Amino acid sequence: MLAGIYRLLLPFCVLGVVAGISQPAYFPLRPPAVPLAVRSPYTSAWVTTKDGATLNSASAIFWSGVDLGWEGIVTVDGVSYEYLGVGSDALPALPSLKKATPLTTRYDSQYSNFTFAAGPIEVTASFFSPVIPQEVCRTSIPLSYLITSVRATDNATHDVQLYNDINARWITYATDVKVKWSLHESGITQPVNGSNATITSTTSSSIFSWLLELEEAYTFGEDENFPQWGNFTFSTTAGNASTEFTFESGFAADVRYGYVQNRSLTNLVDGDYRASAVREPVFAFAHDLGAVKRESSVVYTLGSVQQPSVRYLNADGLSELDPWWMKCYGSSLYELIEVHYRDLATSQELAARWETQLRADIARFYRENSSSSSLSSGWFGDLSASWMYSNSSEGTNRFGEEWVFDSRNGYGFYNPSTFAGVAVPDVDEAHSYYSIVALAARQVMGAYVLTARQDSDSSSSNTTAEPFMFQKEISSDGNVNTVDVLYPAMPFFLYANPAMIRYTLDPLYENQEDGFYPNGYSMHDLGSAFPNATGHVLGDDEYMPLEESGNMILMTLAYARFANDTAYLRDHYEKMAEWAQYLLEFALIPEDQLSTDDFAGELVNQTNLAIKGIVAIGAMGEIAKAVGASSEAANFSATATSYETQWETFAIDPSVNHTMLAYEWRSSWGLLYNIYPDRLLSLGIIPDHVYEMQSAWYPGVSQVFGVPLDVRHFYTKSDWQLWTAATCEPATRRLFVDAVAFWLNATSTQYAFTDLYDTVGTGEYPTDDDGDITQFIARPVQGGEYSLLALLK
Ligand SMILES: *[C@@H]1O[C@H](CO)[C@@H](O)[C@H](O)[C@H]1NC(C)=O
Ligand SMILES: *[C@@H]1O[C@H](CO)[C@@H](O)[C@H](O)[C@H]1NC(C)=O
Ligand SMILES: *[C@@H]1O[C@H](CO)[C@@H](O)[C@H](O)[C@H]1NC(C)=O
Ligand SMILES: *[C@@H]1O[C@H](CO)[C@@H](O)[C@H](O)[C@H]1NC(C)=O
Ligand SMILES: *[C@@H]1O[C@H](CO)[C@@H](O)[C@H](O)[C@H]1NC(C)=O
Ligand SMILES: *[C@@H]1O[C@H](CO)[C@@H](O)[C@H](O)[C@H]1NC(C)=O
Ligand SMILES: *[C@@H]1O[C@H](CO)[C@@H](O)[C@H](O)[C@H]1NC(C)=O
Ligand SMILES: *[C@@H]1O[C@H](CO)[C@@H](O)[C@H](O)[C@H]1NC(C)=O
Ligand SMILES: *[C@@H]1O[C@H](CO)[C@@H](O)[C@H](O)[C@H]1NC(C)=O
Ligand SMILES: *[C@@H]1O[C@H](CO)[C@@H](O)[C@H](O)[C@H]1NC(C)=O
Ligand SMILES: *[C@@H]1O[C@H](CO)[C@@H](O)[C@H](O)[C@H]1NC(C)=O
Ligand SMILES: *[C@@H]1O[C@H](CO)[C@@H](O)[C@H](O)[C@H]1NC(C)=O
Repeated sequence: MLAGIYRLLLPFCVLGVVAGISQPAYFPLRPPAVPLAVRSPYTSAWVTTKDGATLNSASAIFWSGVDLGWEGIVTVDGVSYEYLGVGSDALPALPSLKKATPLTTRYDSQYSNFTFAAGPIEVTASFFSPVIPQEVCRTSIPLSYLITSVRATDNATHDVQLYNDINARWITYATDVKVKWSLHESGITQPVNGSNATITSTTSSSIFSWLLELEEAYTFGEDENFPQWGNFTFSTTAGNASTEFTFESGFAADVRYGYVQNRSLTNLVDGDYRASAVREPVFAFAHDLGAVKRESSVVYTLGSVQQPSVRYLNADGLSELDPWWMKCYGSSLYELIEVHYRDLATSQELAARWETQLRADIARFYRENSSSSSLSSGWFGDLSASWMYSNSSEGTNRFGEEWVFDSRNGYGFYNPSTFAGVAVPDVDEAHSYYSIVALAARQVMGAYVLTARQDSDSSSSNTTAEPFMFQKEISSDGNVNTVDVLYPAMPFFLYANPAMIRYTLDPLYENQEDGFYPNGYSMHDLGSAFPNATGHVLGDDEYMPLEESGNMILMTLAYARFANDTAYLRDHYEKMAEWAQYLLEFALIPEDQLSTDDFAGELVNQTNLAIKGIVAIGAMGEIAKAVGASSEAANFSATATSYETQWETFAIDPSVNHTMLAYEWRSSWGLLYNIYPDRLLSLGIIPDHVYEMQSAWYPGVSQVFGVPLDVRHFYTKSDWQLWTAATCEPATRRLFVDAVAFWLNATSTQYAFTDLYDTVGTGEYPTDDDGDITQFIARPVQGGEYSLLALLK
């Protein structure tokens, strides 16, 4: 056997031998990190699954990997079981304190649900971060839900208490910076402390909120990606705590130990404000659910809230933009917390509608776009079915291709001697695809904030006003509305709500049309450090002229087509014409420059960059036509066609079976993902033979975890693979889709869905020649996984 297979097997072995941690069953697959509370760049909590870790064997982490204290304990007939967090590790061994046993971990586009056995009780922690892009007000709320429910599994009645706390790390990266806190009860002005807070039946629906903030806030500042201003809130109601509801803040070990001993808290708020690492302060709630016969549950909400949220530059000068939710719900943080808390049922209904539609659309896509009638699409109804493997060791798939099954990893390969071509026997491609897009949904939306457009706008009652949307380029460099990060994410928004593309493009247009950018090509981003959307008045942004000019034109046309908004094309025609001029000059023979894949370095004559520019010139022809500039339209269209013909002579390898990575670099190749907009928008610039040639080429260069980005490295991009998949024949498309799902389930990466990974080995983050690892984490580019859904008409 080749050495390759042993490397491949590693993650599976690691998963199997984790001492003492029993593994939950994962549905629809095991992601490298499970989203917990993911609503904004600052409310972004995950738990890794690396090395067999689960919700109660690893700490919750901020997307960047920093540990967050989030602790959950269920007490059943006097015995406490930890189901969330690892706080119990710091307590002395107590016979009445155990770990709950993980049973299942499931996710969909909205929820991550973990179930555990806690003696005779099954506890479910349901983390809910709604993805409802058609609801602009709700989408602008940066808060998330945790619903913990308990159910007796033996038909008997049990005495049950629930405990939950968060620590001050949620509001500060620096562990030596002083944090202030207070507890508030809805409807009461004074902060709560002491026994006067004891719950009566009349206050069982009052909302209790811990508020945490830095003693010295620094508006619009960040420290290692943590906000330096605003408040973190953690809230609940007494709800089902029929007998007793208590709270406490104080030193973590004391508060948790006290709870385990007494099964209740002291109702005292620690008055000694301090840093997160000094006698670690935690902020806790305990619910005594009393005798639970069948089921009971508690709802918690939490998140980081900034008012104002973005600094913005346009012709009116520098503005501090308020979050959009202030326009919907008023300016009070308390009011926001209450509205959000009481909205759970409605949000759940809206979220379920989106999820149902997503499944129906995936099923429809595969009904309409497969070459075989043998496709099942019935699995959606039964996520727990054992749908995975056939028992046979080789076979022929529905495309007539032979594959060989490897019983040690459950996967098959078209070419077992090189492990090229992933073939997953009996796995519905629709299931693989669902696994990918469902995981991506919260990650995409969690990179954005929505704001009002003017300082004063939030209080005005102008209901026709619209928000701005600002994206943080999470993990790669924190830019605002990076054009080549909005571009890969575009398919998600075309599918989910095209208007949101306009909300992100508007500030880019406004800033440049107001004269704040001096160059004749499109700006790379609206600011180098989120949340400062102040542009680049000196024009010294990252130099990607061809990339971004093409992207802006393509996104603008895509938006206009999907939203039927020709007026938008008219509004920005002048700016786009300027960028198109740049493309006419530089697209066919691209100078030495970066493309969006800047980690790969500069390169002259990049085939994929050139074709983006050429397709964008074709798009400009459509735009000119739509606004009535018919002679310009004819000129753009004719040039696009002529450039494409010339491009083929430069770009296609002499073997005539693939395009090259760069002109005149014989035998080189790469993912030609920039032809996707031609198909998406039916532009007709790219002839069929180019699509067919590329589709036939990719399987031959695929590796275990997919097709490398290009010939230079083994790494690839998940977003660009799905863009490419959307340009291919069904058999090749399936290879990409199954490979990404296979990688997600097997990768040894430990953080939120990375878009950059190795197609060989254990599917790690790539390491360069100097041994430096590039970790892309939680990036919104995963919106690109929706490439297939965006093709649905
Ligand atoms: C994921 O990998 C595990 C461990 O090999 C396997 O049991 C499971 O069936 C796989 N699931 C999917 C969806 O590939
Ligand atoms: C998660 O739990 C919620 C209820 O809290 C339910 O509506 C949803 O369907 C569940 N999702 C999965 C994938 O189990
Ligand atoms: C619980 O009760 C139901 C109906 O009363 C019965 O069918 C079931 O077997 C019982 N389960 C256990 C674990 O006793
Ligand atoms: C509760 O007691 C605290 C002092 O412990 C006091 O500051 C607060 O005003 C009281 N709240 C109410 C509602 O009486
Ligand atoms: C945003 O701009 C302000 C004002 O220049 C600055 O103090 C702050 O540090 C900037 N924020 C980031 C994240 O760079
Ligand atoms: C929240 O944070 C901001 C800025 O850090 C602060 O000015 C404000 O008073 C805090 N509290 C509330 C309830 O909004
Ligand atoms: C709450 O009350 C306790 C006991 O009276 C006191 O020690 C503590 O400082 C108070 N906390 C706050 C935030 O005032
Ligand atoms: C009480 O628990 C039940 C059962 O889980 C749940 O349906 C209900 O919403 C809970 N009530 C509150 C106020 O949380
Ligand atoms: C309301 O907002 C819309 C969109 O921003 C704007 O066009 C309109 O002029 C505004 N109306 C008023 C009365 O301010
Ligand atoms: C698109 O907009 C035009 C002009 O507003 C309108 O006439 C047409 O009916 C719209 N088409 C669709 C499909 O909504
Ligand atoms: C770029 O490609 C063009 C067309 O093939 C060629 O004329 C030119 O020399 C190439 N530039 C470089 C630097 O290789
Ligand atoms: C590519 O072309 C070469 C030479 O024409 C040929 O031998 C080879 O089989 C082709 N490869 C594919 C994958 O079609």
